[in-house]
Amino acid sequence: MLFLSCLLHSHLVPSRPPSPKKIPPWPSDLCKGCRALIEKVRERYSKTWKKQEDNYRNLSSQLRSQCQGFDRAIITQANTPVGSNIVYAVENKKTLKVTPEIFSTFIKENPFPKKKWDTCAVVGNSGILTNSSCGEMIDSAQFVIRCNLPSLGKGYEKHVGTKTDLVTANPSILTKEFGDLMGPRRPFVESLHSYGKSMMVLSPFTNARTSPVCLRAVYSIRDFKSPIQPMFFNPDYFQILNDFWRSRGLTRGLLSTGLVMVNIALEHCANVHLYGFWPFSNHPFELNAVKNHYYDDKKGKWTVHFMPDEFDILLRLHSQGVLRLHLGNCQPGRN
Ligand SMILES: *[C@@H]1O[C@H](CO)[C@@H](O)[C@H](O)[C@H]1NC(C)=O
Ligand SMILES: *[C@@H]1O[C@H](CO)[C@@H](O)[C@H](O)[C@H]1NC(C)=O
Repeated sequence: MLFLSCLLHSHLVPSRPPSPKKIPPWPSDLCKGCRALIEKVRERYSKTWKKQEDNYRNLSSQLRSQCQGFDRAIITQANTPVGSNIVYAVENKKTLKVTPEIFSTFIKENPFPKKKWDTCAVVGNSGILTNSSCGEMIDSAQFVIRCNLPSLGKGYEKHVGTKTDLVTANPSILTKEFGDLMGPRRPFVESLHSYGKSMMVLSPFTNARTSPVCLRAVYSIRDFKSPIQPMFFNPDYFQILNDFWRSRGLTRGLLSTGLVMVNIALEHCANVHLYGFWPFSNHPFELNAVKNHYYDDKKGKWTVHFMPDEFDILLRLHSQGVLRLHLGNCQPGRN
């Protein structure tokens, strides 16, 4: 079944670029700096995308040898024994000694298989997915990664799909949406049903403040016997990835979880497809207003992440044929 869906996926990939004939007029409320960017995007997307195997292999093997997400992205009982020190990602040199209690919240072993997945979809949450009809294509990937506990179902199926193999959860969403998990935990655990048995990756060691709520998330999941598999990002890996991209054009800010997941996908998947990565408020082809997320319009604070810089990297990787960044609408039925 999986094999079949991969085959199908590889057939539907060369979809037509969005019809370049009808370019709508520039609206008066176009986002700042967007005109040049959108012209660049349209120029790139007027050509059919083709994977460049040598460029993909170069980057994938560099990530594997220099960043080693395979062994280091996730904290496990095997790579982080009791007594070791975890260095927080944003509080320089501040450390946490792993106690038996903290250790008991780690997963036992590396959750990633040795063999690469054929196709992965990494789904960002941009409002560009609204009315995109990309759900079927996203779900046809062998491994689907989603970011920050996004809304699924509720009529979004057609546009974002439902399959989830890995979902991330930033501490801030646990704070804002679930009252820091200080009250009843059931609403939180029930909200996880839409992700089934997927892996759920939390970031407890970004700074000391965020650790307790992430541990409470794990305890809640265990106490309610939720099938989701909670695990933790290793802050070392964030540091290594940041250094890796610093020398390749990302000169400010910390990598967003979305970009971290793209890096993990590039190590683990032969074909990487990105959806919902568009941090600007006008659609690149239709120019209509794009919400911040496909499920709400809450603004993120871009004080630590520089999304336009990250987007520039993604567009470059798309142009180099390393990964495919989907910005237009999909054509269901073609698969
Ligand atoms: C691989 O990438 C690096 C840096 O991104 C570049 O310097 C090198 O020439 C590339 N190697 C090949 C074989 O393309
Ligand atoms: C999406 O489609 C619905 C139904 O056709 C429409 O009402 C809505 O305005 C569309 N939203 C956007 C952002 O295009």
